[in-house]
Amino acid sequence: MLRGKDIISIRDLEKSDIEFLLKRADEMNVALASGKRLDLLQGKIIATIFFEPSTRTKMSFQSAIKLLGGQNLNFSSIESSSMKKGENLADTLRMIDGYSSLLIIRHALEGSARYAAEICEHPVINAGDGGNQHPTQTLLDLFTINKMKGRIRGLNVSLVGDLKHARTMRSLLYGLAMFNANITLISPPGLEMSKKIVDEVRERFGANIMEHTTMDLSDADVAYICRIQKERFADPYEAEMAQRSFRVTKDVLKGVKDDLILLHPLPKVDEIAPEIDNTKYAKYFEQAKLGVPMRMALIAEVLGV
Ligand code: NCD
Repeated sequence: MLRGKDIISIRDLEKSDIEFLLKRADEMNVALASGKRLDLLQGKIIATIFFEPSTRTKMSFQSAIKLLGGQNLNFSSIESSSMKKGENLADTLRMIDGYSSLLIIRHALEGSARYAAEICEHPVINAGDGGNQHPTQTLLDLFTINKMKGRIRGLNVSLVGDLKHARTMRSLLYGLAMFNANITLISPPGLEMSKKIVDEVRERFGANIMEHTTMDLSDADVAYICRIQKERFADPYEAEMAQRSFRVTKDVLKGVKDDLILLHPLPKVDEIAPEIDNTKYAKYFEQAKLGVPMRMALIAEVLGV
């Protein structure tokens, strides 16, 4: 179904594609746990091209490639490439397209991954384009929720934090609506999710979406938190103020559902008090690990192996 397809936005995926990926990621996870070798990518080279910082997304893609028996070609920095001599992005991508079967790209410019897909013959996966989209994070988020809660439909999911700038939240809102979750958007004033995106999702899926500016998690089954996206603010001082005023603390967790799960795409900075890491609610490190089987599933499907 996804063979040869570019995965640039969560909108590029049908619900049936995602359901299929959830199943395949589960199979990958079972294979990983049993130590079974999966040599599906033998002889294949996959490029990772990250122009913005990354730990989890890049390394989980690289782990996924290696666990599937493929080879990784990593573009490590502008400084050490011919872009330093003035080569442009398009020419650089054309070259890498010639050396690999699949390109995984992260770039600060919104629309950059779509642009890459237009230039390259091989499929392109968007690993984050500015504040726009991060579809593979959404896939692993849906995988995590489905695995931990046994379903997505009908769950109360709160998206908490800088909803104006976080690409993870834009993609996830769409994914959750597609699976009929009840969604509450909680952000500091001024950092609300774009009205255009909320309207689109309401219209397209008839989604039940509420919006708040105070952190009340009492009804939530899942609270998905993200950091204030400081690098996307014109004024860093404003980012700091928002960061300080909007934190998940032990007090916020008083009176929440017993089986609430706290998720976060990570990196977290200061938006979750450190003592919460040791509570039963914190599931974000497990979530990050599930990125590997989900990315294995996606790569295998896009390459048709
Ligand atoms: C996120 C990103 O890069 O958008 N991180 C990730 O991919 N896991 C979240 C963030 O940077 O806040």
